[in-house]
Amino acid sequence: MTWNTSVAARILRVNHGGEHGAICIYSAQIAAARFRAPDFLPFLNEALAHERDHRARFRSLMPSRQGKPCRMMWIWAVGGAGLGLISGVLGREAILACTEAVERTVHRHLDDQIRWTSSRDHELRSTIEAIQIEEQEHIRHAVSHRRGRDFAWLESAIAHATEALIWLSTRGDSTRLARQLAPDAAV
Ligand SMILES: [Fe+2]
Ligand SMILES: [Fe+2]
Repeated sequence: MTWNTSVAARILRVNHGGEHGAICIYSAQIAAARFRAPDFLPFLNEALAHERDHRARFRSLMPSRQGKPCRMMWIWAVGGAGLGLISGVLGREAILACTEAVERTVHRHLDDQIRWTSSRDHELRSTIEAIQIEEQEHIRHAVSHRRGRDFAWLESAIAHATEALIWLSTRGDSTRLARQLAPDAAV
């Protein structure tokens, strides 16, 4: 396995796990939104369909890069369902705060990855870019529907929880990977 292949495989593992987490968050929010914010269901269902497609696309790029899904997928399932349920039960503003926090955190990781893949793995880069466009739509939707910053504390807690989930599911590899993807890292 070359160095580039191994970094690509690790990017795919983190992203695939993250998409699984997003699926669990939106699924739990859909369950709660039926009672708390039924008018949010069309957006939540559409976002869930996007996340399922993202997970499948990252999974499909794994074999050619000797990549495998992370073994700690259950962490994403538990963490994602927890975040989704808590925000869903708290209602519409909390759901939007959750979407914004999770998607912004994911975004930062994708930006680093796009920069790293640009001269090394065009297929992976174009997949990440296409997915990032849909993640941007999710952020835009959340931002445009929020009425205030009532759940700033929740947003910050969720951003930290998302980073912790990414870190835990990769057993710390996300930190090393971020360092390797940094623009001034030695390559
Ligand atoms: Fe996604
Ligand atoms: Fe998303």
